[in-house]
Amino acid sequence: MDGKQIIEEDKLYVAGTYARFPVVFRDGKGCRLYDCDGREYLDCGSGIGVNVFGVNDGKWKEAVTEQLGMLQHTSNLYYTRPQADLAKLLCTRTGAKKVFFGNSGAEANECAIKAARKYGEEHGGRYKIVTLKNSFHGRTIATLAATGQEAFHRHFGPFPEGFVYAEPTTESVAACAADDACAVMIEVIQGESGVNVLPESFVKDVERLCRERGMLLICDEVQTGNGRTGHLYSYMAYGVRPDIVTTAKGLGGGLPIGACMLFGDCADVFGRGDHGSTFGGNPVSCAGACSILGRIDDKLLADVREKGRRFADGLKKIAGVTEVSGMGLMIGFRTAKPAAETASECIKRGLLVLTAHSRVRLLPPLTISNEEIDTALGILREVIDG
Ligand SMILES: Cc1ncc(COP(=O)(O)O)c(C=O)c1O
Repeated sequence: MDGKQIIEEDKLYVAGTYARFPVVFRDGKGCRLYDCDGREYLDCGSGIGVNVFGVNDGKWKEAVTEQLGMLQHTSNLYYTRPQADLAKLLCTRTGAKKVFFGNSGAEANECAIKAARKYGEEHGGRYKIVTLKNSFHGRTIATLAATGQEAFHRHFGPFPEGFVYAEPTTESVAACAADDACAVMIEVIQGESGVNVLPESFVKDVERLCRERGMLLICDEVQTGNGRTGHLYSYMAYGVRPDIVTTAKGLGGGLPIGACMLFGDCADVFGRGDHGSTFGGNPVSCAGACSILGRIDDKLLADVREKGRRFADGLKKIAGVTEVSGMGLMIGFRTAKPAAETASECIKRGLLVLTAHSRVRLLPPLTISNEEIDTALGILREVIDG
């Protein structure tokens, strides 16, 4: 079957929820992907921040295939070593006390919402969760309700009650966080809404408000986590101490996994039967995630910060680029053209980039080389400045 036939078949049978580019990928290595005609692409999207060590990474493949050869799935009625190992690794690296595993970012956030609601019920019957305008927390009904963007609320109501949307200002969060609020949930860098880096003073104010008013601080690190920003989790760059941290995307290095990390006295909020998942903590995903997390060390994080600077500095030298934002290898920028048009022009020239609202977004593999960054900048210059 050639690429054209695959696209036709996909259009016939797959639900039409995605605006796809007309490319069928077959394989790849590192930051290079190949379509079914053998054409090469430089990947600055990593499957929306997932393939942190690129495609076909040897060590990750070894960990995954070794586990596949032993046991692909049991259930959460039993224990498996990869799940226990990954939970221990996450707790050791972050100071969390307990982890719940799901299969995606939305599921990690669902778990955080449930944990916060149960904690709130036990601490004065509180249930409201303050989130920010322009946030994005997932596409299940509860995580859509948590998402502070009207556009995502069309068609799917009624939503569960108890979500309040604050402007990203201390005054607005303080006003929204009434006595019945149990938590404030933030992405310290809002990814889907355009790579908006929240100011440190604001994030610290949110933490202070949470402490003063007995609310939990939830950091959604689904996109920003696992080394993406040059910090293991981006809240670490802000020096705050969340009560709940969620992550997914890069953690699995390409296999589905989501994790909800519970800190401090929030750790024991769940009892038997409070939450569960058939596939959550799957041994193959967990074995791959152990390989990923185990290699995100200080050296790699320093490299990500350095490469992020190289990318951002290069972008700032392109005449048509404005408003470069981000941290590490999570970068957004604007051009005079619509972001989608820039992405289409790039793909024609063999470069994969993402969009987020009106910005072009770059989430390359953390292992991208300086030469590959310069190649990407060259293509972007051609597309943007002509
Ligand atoms: C910050 C944030 N939270 C949650 C999600 C949802 O993750 P998933 O698509 O894995 O459910 C995303 C996905 O883009 C995200 O960026």
